Amino acid sequence: MALRSRRGTSPLPTAHHGTDLLGRCIVFAWALVVGALLFAGGRAEAQKLPEGNSCIDCHRGIGDPRVTPPAEKFPQDIHLAKGILCQDCHGGDPRNFDPKGSMNPAKGFIGKPKHQAIPQLCGKCHSNAAYMKKFNPTIRVDQVQEYLTSVHGRKLREGDQKVATCISCHDVHNIRAIKDQQAWTYPVKVVETCGRCHGDAKYMEGYKIATDVVDKYKKSVHYEALTKKGDLSAPTCNVCHGNHGATPPGVDSVANVCGTCHSLTADFFNQSPHKKAFAAMGLAPCVTCHSNHDVTKPSDTLVGTDQQAVCVNCHDPASAGYQKAAAIRTSLDELRGAVQRAAGILDRAEHAGMEVSQAKFELRGATDALLKTRATVHRFDPVAIRNLSDEGVQVANKMYDKGVKAMDDLRFRHRGLWISVGIILVAIAGLVLKIREIDRRRG
Ligand code: HEC
Ligand code: HEC
Ligand code: HEC
Ligand code: HEC
Ligand code: HEC
Ligand code: HEC
Ligand code: HEC
Ligand code: HEC
Ligand code: HEC
Repeated sequence: MALRSRRGTSPLPTAHHGTDLLGRCIVFAWALVVGALLFAGGRAEAQKLPEGNSCIDCHRGIGDPRVTPPAEKFPQDIHLAKGILCQDCHGGDPRNFDPKGSMNPAKGFIGKPKHQAIPQLCGKCHSNAAYMKKFNPTIRVDQVQEYLTSVHGRKLREGDQKVATCISCHDVHNIRAIKDQQAWTYPVKVVETCGRCHGDAKYMEGYKIATDVVDKYKKSVHYEALTKKGDLSAPTCNVCHGNHGATPPGVDSVANVCGTCHSLTADFFNQSPHKKAFAAMGLAPCVTCHSNHDVTKPSDTLVGTDQQAVCVNCHDPASAGYQKAAAIRTSLDELRGAVQRAAGILDRAEHAGMEVSQAKFELRGATDALLKTRATVHRFDPVAIRNLSDEGVQVANKMYDKGVKAMDDLRFRHRGLWISVGIILVAIAGLVLKIREIDRRRG
């Protein structure tokens, strides 16, 4: 394999033969560089194209819309920044300015690679650990191997021309570093990248899979957290489906991916009677109640025996599950009611100018219990919820009593105030009468 990189070795300075001071200077210099990069917003700077490369010079100068765009897009490409040029992917002779001599199959020129051949083309470097580690000691080299396990990779090998290959997700001639905010794989850009195919019903015609996945995902709490709150820990398509493989690392099936982030909830679910029951019915643990793409914000109304509750989808009134669902909902309602009642009176007292900050602080004991119930619901155990609820209701009622006392104090103060006002008014009236009497006597 001939890898004709301009810079075959690592461009990073190595510190091992420097003195301590030199080492620190280098670290400092790199910190400055990294700082500057972060300051630039994670955006890669356009590189200067090298002079004297016949591929670049001719393709750029020729002004032919079929062949000029690659050279024009290339200044943004990570490969250029690493010294990798046209001939490293396409072959040919970059020192020969005659098209026949330059784009010569005898010089390894392959032309435009076929759709089917793209993974191998990228893999000639990206699957070569010894080569890649020279540039980046921590970069993964399993992309092609993983890709071949995915539906995309399997179908490509069967001759499907429409599935995603490396360049469908990374672009071509404008391949950006993963950290670059302009990269097609940057978290907030992924929806658009996958959506180019999976959101296009016409393109996906003939495949037996849903094409509303993108629209649905855009309605989810996850998309909202990612785009509105800028929470990059919320999952987008590739986080659940894997970057390259059939599933993300450490997950046996995509349907089990939720627990990688919502681990407490998943632990509770695994202790619950549903664990075995769902497995026996072939149902996925989380998506059965929450769905996969349009995961919305859940609330207490999902539990219980009303029409909106998910429980009644499976439990009929005669079952133990139904009775227990009703019991869980009753405990939740009691706790929520008690917290609202206490918070209400403390708010009123505060607005009236009473000092209730300590009681408001202590009420957190009850709101915390309420928060805990939301995950604990996944034990589907009425006793566990009852215990949390009792604990929270007790705190809430105590704080409610403090609120009542504050309002009583307020009423007492008001009464005192009116009495004083009355006494003052009577005194003033007396004074006025006295003054009039004196005036009359003088007159
Ligand atoms: C003197 C101008 C010139 C030089 C030098 C040149 N090319 Fe081209 N290249 C062209 C033109 C014109 C076309 C389109 C006409 C054609 O298909 O032959 C083309 C086509 C291509 C294609 C598309 C071929 C296809 O199968 O569709 C690739 C890829 C390519 N060049 C890469 C290179 C690389 C890599 C080099 C350097 C090793 C190079 N070119 C050097 C002018 C040039
Ligand atoms: C990292 C590998 C890589 C590098 C570097 C690269 N190319 Fe390409 N190039 C590809 C791949 C892959 C395709 C096929 C794109 C497709 O199927 O749409 C391609 C396609 C092309 C085409 C055909 C475009 C078309 O739409 O028919 C031309 C022309 C071309 N490259 C020229 C260049 C030139 C000039 C350079 C250097 C400035 C260059 N390439 C650098 C991978 C590369
Ligand atoms: C279906 C979309 C998709 C396809 C197809 C795809 N990638 Fe990726 N690739 C991604 C995503 C998403 C990331 C990770 C982005 C992140 O970590 O934020 C990634 C990351 C990478 C990285 C950075 C190192 C790493 O593994 O995290 C390399 C290198 C890479 N891909 C190369 C390839 C190659 C080579 C192919 C073809 C065999 C390929 N990709 C196919 C979406 C894709
Ligand atoms: C000639 C060798 C070579 C070929 C061929 C090649 N790459 Fe790369 N690629 C590299 C090197 C070297 C890097 C820089 C790695 C680093 O320093 O992190 C890189 C970086 C990348 C990155 C950014 C990784 C990151 O961690 O930010 C992506 C994505 C990528 N390549 C995708 C591709 C795709 C897609 C193809 C095929 C169209 C391809 N590469 C072909 C050598 C190659
Ligand atoms: C170039 C178009 C294209 C792009 C881009 C693309 N896909 Fe696909 N994808 C397909 C096609 C076509 C299939 C094959 C459907 C089939 O045969 O069932 C497929 C299959 C899948 C499947 C398997 C569905 C099933 O159950 O059979 C998943 C999951 C998937 N893609 C996820 C993604 C994700 C996630 C992304 C973005 C990171 C993505 N795809 C990007 C075209 C694309
Ligand atoms: C929170 C995790 C999650 C996210 C985010 C996610 N998916 Fe899915 N997706 C799933 C699960 C779970 C399934 C069901 C897979 C199964 O049962 O094996 C699925 C199924 C699919 C399927 C197959 C649909 C079918 O009809 O068979 C496609 C295609 C797909 N997802 C694409 C996407 C795309 C594109 C995105 C981004 C817009 C995305 N997914 C975001 C978890 C997710
Ligand atoms: C990569 C981590 C990750 C994965 C995987 C993931 N989530 Fe989430 N999930 C989050 C984040 C982050 C939030 C947003 C928390 C917030 O802002 O309130 C969230 C929010 C939620 C919420 C709303 C929580 C609330 O308090 O309103 C539900 C329900 C949810 N996810 C269910 C799921 C399901 C079901 C799956 C699997 C199909 C899943 N999640 C996969 C990270 C993840
Ligand atoms: C039988 C139905 C059901 C199943 C199965 C289920 N959930 Fe829930 N989930 C609910 C209900 C009901 C709520 C709302 C509880 C509330 O607000 O009172 C909820 C709330 C949530 C919340 C928001 C509360 C919190 O803890 O932040 C998340 C996140 C969540 N579920 C994730 C999951 C995950 C992950 C799984 C799989 C391990 C799962 N759920 C399985 C019914 C279910
Ligand atoms: C997808 C169907 C399904 C949904 C939705 C569902 N369950 Fe179940 N549940 C089952 C099955 C199956 C069993 C085991 C057989 C049985 O006991 O009925 C079970 C068992 C239970 C049990 C144990 C019953 C016992 O014997 O002690 C409880 C409690 C329970 N579910 C509560 C709930 C609650 C609360 C909800 C709503 C948040 C709910 N379930 C939603 C299917 C479901």
